[in-house]
Amino acid sequence: MFAFPLKTSHYVELVNPLWTTHKMQAQVVEVWDETKDSRTITLKAGANWRKHRAGQHVRVGISVDGRQYTRTYTISSPPERDDGCFTITVKVIDGGRISRHIVRNLKVGDYIPVGLPQGDFYLPDASPIQPLFITAGSGITPAMSMLRSLIAQQRLPDSVHIHFAPNEFDVIFARELRQMSIQQKYYHLHEVHTRDFGEDKQTKAYFNLDQLQRFCPDWKERDCYACGPASLLSSLEKVWGEAGLSNKLHIERFLAEFAEVPSDAVGGKVRFAKSGIEVEADSETNLLRIAEDAGMNPPHGCRMGICHTCNTKLKSGCVRDLRTGELLNEVGAIVQTCVCATAGDCELDL
Ligand code: FES
Repeated sequence: MFAFPLKTSHYVELVNPLWTTHKMQAQVVEVWDETKDSRTITLKAGANWRKHRAGQHVRVGISVDGRQYTRTYTISSPPERDDGCFTITVKVIDGGRISRHIVRNLKVGDYIPVGLPQGDFYLPDASPIQPLFITAGSGITPAMSMLRSLIAQQRLPDSVHIHFAPNEFDVIFARELRQMSIQQKYYHLHEVHTRDFGEDKQTKAYFNLDQLQRFCPDWKERDCYACGPASLLSSLEKVWGEAGLSNKLHIERFLAEFAEVPSDAVGGKVRFAKSGIEVEADSETNLLRIAEDAGMNPPHGCRMGICHTCNTKLKSGCVRDLRTGELLNEVGAIVQTCVCATAGDCELDL
C-alpha cells in the first residue's frame, strides 16, 4: 500500500538495479576491444535471468541522445560460464548509430535493459556429428559460443571451421581461434582473408564450391552451422540445395532477406495516427525507420521480422512486405513495421 502505484521492485531498483523484478537489467562489468571496430561487452545479469543455449541471442536496450533503442545481439560466451555474466560482441556497422554507441561509449558500470535469451539457432543436446561452421565477420559470434561450450564440456567433435574476414587483423576472436586450432586436435580452422593488405575492396574470392571441397572434402556428411552476410548465406543455400542437403544446413541471419522491390513501386505519405505525424516515405525504407527518423520511438525488437514487437494495425492505404513483396491493404491488417514499406499513402495505428 505504501508503494502504490509503484511496486516494491521500483524502490529496490534505487538500491541496486540488478535486484529488480519488474524489468530485467544487466550491468557492464568489462569491455574488451576485439578489433579496431568490434568490442566484447561483459554483462552481469540481474534477477530473473536464465541461461542461454550456445548460439542464442538477446535483446538489449540502448539509450542514445535521450531515446531508447532496442537491438539484438548473439551471446558470444558459453552457457557454462558460472559467474552470472554473459558477453555480447558488437561490430560497428556502416551508418549504425547504435552499434557505434555500444562499441565507443558503453562503459563499465553502465546498466542496460536486457531481454531473455531467444532463438532456435543452437546445437542439439546430443553432440553434433562432425559440425562444419561457416562464418563471416561478426557472424562468428554464435559459432564461438558453440565452440566454447563444446570445449568447456570436453565434447568437441571433429569440427571444421571456415571463417571469412577482410584482413587478418579484422578477425574477431583471432587469438583464441588460432590457439584453439593448435590446442584442440579435433578443431580445424581455415581463415579466408578477402582483401589484400591496404586494399579497401574485396580482392579475393569469397565462398565457392571448389574452396569448400578443398577445406572440407567430406562437407556432405557434416551438419553445417552458418552465420554471416546475406550474400554468403544465399550461396550456401544454393550449394546445399543443389546437393539435396538443405536439411543439413542451419542458418542464422542478422538481417531479414528482402525481395527485389518492383521498379514501378511507389512511396507516399505515411501518417502515424496516434502521434499525429505525417511524413513522406519511399518504397524501400521500412516503416520502423521512417517513424524513428520522424522522431518517434515505436516498439521494436529484432528489426528483422521475427519477434513481432513492432506489429501495428493498418488504418488505411497500402504497405508492402519487403520480404515477400506481398501488398497489405485491408483495414486492420497487422503490419510488421520493421519489414514493411509504404506502397502509396498509408495510415498506421501508431
Ligand atoms: S522488430 Fe521484431 S518483428 Fe519487427
